[in-house]
Amino acid sequence: MLAIIGGTGFSQLSNLRITHRQVMRTPYGEPSGPMTFGTINQRELMFLARHGYGHTIPPHQVNYRANLWALRDQGATSVIAVTSVGSIRADLVPGTLVVPDQIIDYTYGRDFTYFDGKDKAVTHIDFTHPYSEKLRQILLAAVKSANETCVDGGVHAITQGPRLETAAEINRIERDGADMVGMTGMPEAALAKELGLAYATIAVVVNYAAGRGNSRDGVPLETIGTVMNPAMERVRNILERAVEL
Ligand code: HPA
Repeated sequence: MLAIIGGTGFSQLSNLRITHRQVMRTPYGEPSGPMTFGTINQRELMFLARHGYGHTIPPHQVNYRANLWALRDQGATSVIAVTSVGSIRADLVPGTLVVPDQIIDYTYGRDFTYFDGKDKAVTHIDFTHPYSEKLRQILLAAVKSANETCVDGGVHAITQGPRLETAAEINRIERDGADMVGMTGMPEAALAKELGLAYATIAVVVNYAAGRGNSRDGVPLETIGTVMNPAMERVRNILERAVEL
């Protein structure tokens, strides 16, 4: 079954016909909120709002382990994550959708693995390709089917937040090879891999990163909503197609 994790600006899947909600407990604590089960065009899926349904959980306090554990526990095999990002590359103008294919992780102090048990064999997962290529291709096909456009591939940097970056940090992150920057892509992607879930992300560019474009003198936070809301509507249409593929 497909699960969708909605990020900022995406705490509801408005085209989902809800069948039930389920409060969950996991060995890692409680997920961000109840799992929402429903159908889109008769296809069953699950939805979880990463920051809680009232958008109260900041990126560094999301219980990523509980979220993914709960999704898998309820039968998810694939997870599409929706996330908003700042653009480092000039051509990724706000409003652009991107299906990234690589990750650079700058987060710290988060619970980032299931394999931290004492007395257990050390386990390493392969993370060369952090996203499921099969699920990425499904997302790209869904974009086409919805008559939308997106950028195929890109390096997704994930910072700790909740503050935005300095201009110099963005310069460094660009030198490292990143194209866009968000705060929630990790450890989510790695935990999904540890659980054997297929995982891919659709990233919505909601602003130019610090020091770039119209964020040269500061990121204009008050304008983000006007970019984000119509873009998230497009993402909803794309996801509607993705469940059919
Ligand atoms: N930086 C980090 N995370 C973000 C940004 C940003 O500029 N925009 C949206 N999420």
